[in-house]
Amino acid sequence: MINQKLIQQMESYHFKMSHSNILNFYVLKHVSFKIPVKSKLAFVGPSGSGKTSIIQLIQRFYTNYQGEILLDGVDIKKYDLKKYRSYLGVGQQECVLFNGIIKQNMVQNTQNISANDIENAFILANTQEYINTFYEGLQKQVGQRCIQISGGQKQKIAIARVILKQPQLILLDEATSALDSQNENQVQKSLNTLMQNKKSISVAHTISTIIDCDIIFVLENGQIVEQGDYQQLMILKNHFYKLQQNSNNQI
Ligand SMILES: Nc1ncnc2c1ncn2[C@@H]1O[C@H](COP(=O)(O)OP(=O)(O)O)[C@@H](O)[C@H]1O
Ligand SMILES: [Mg+2]
Repeated sequence: MINQKLIQQMESYHFKMSHSNILNFYVLKHVSFKIPVKSKLAFVGPSGSGKTSIIQLIQRFYTNYQGEILLDGVDIKKYDLKKYRSYLGVGQQECVLFNGIIKQNMVQNTQNISANDIENAFILANTQEYINTFYEGLQKQVGQRCIQISGGQKQKIAIARVILKQPQLILLDEATSALDSQNENQVQKSLNTLMQNKKSISVAHTISTIIDCDIIFVLENGQIVEQGDYQQLMILKNHFYKLQQNSNNQI
């Protein structure tokens, strides 16, 4: 597979960011975190607290932030963009597929992929069955803005793409939110296996998907108000606890 270089560590130092030109209005304020080797991080928090903004910053969608995000000690802005993004595997709520056939979407930016690799990734993303229902199989067009496939199908293709890519850093932003709970459980199991030997950052919409993360950061109004593993946060009986209490597993 690709990406032989092992990313050791990602760190961020007190970055803050604004989406607007309003003076002193920051959607992220003094956010700081560290991802050591093979660690699973999660961000949780109310809607609008800044979770997606962090995931987007790491993907280098924005450069207008103060502070630093370092990968192996080097500012991510200094990496060649294409090379940097080749380290990342991204599954998000509104995932991006381009207008073309499913197979092209799968092998995008990935090299030396065999038909077997693709099939395995689809099986792990619990996608194989529905691909087989298409007369065209992998040659099926997803259509402009993916109108020919459902939201859940789109998410599964995106997850299969992450599994196929075997990235160094996995970024999941409500990546299974369009799936029903049975499908979600199965896909989550595959993602958990994939994440075992990698670094990952998950933004979760259900508590169950982040229970075994190494560090969970609780965001409120663009600030980290609590951090720890699931047990530690529950004992605090504060922000995370309340979030869970109010959520009936949905966060
Ligand atoms: N492209 C944008 N332009 C202006 N404001 C934005 C943009 N994206 C997000 N925001 C604002 O930034 C804040 C954080 O949003 P977001 O990171 O999407 O939160 P979350 O993912 O936790 O729901 C919100 O107040 C949101 O309205
Ligand atoms: Mg979001």
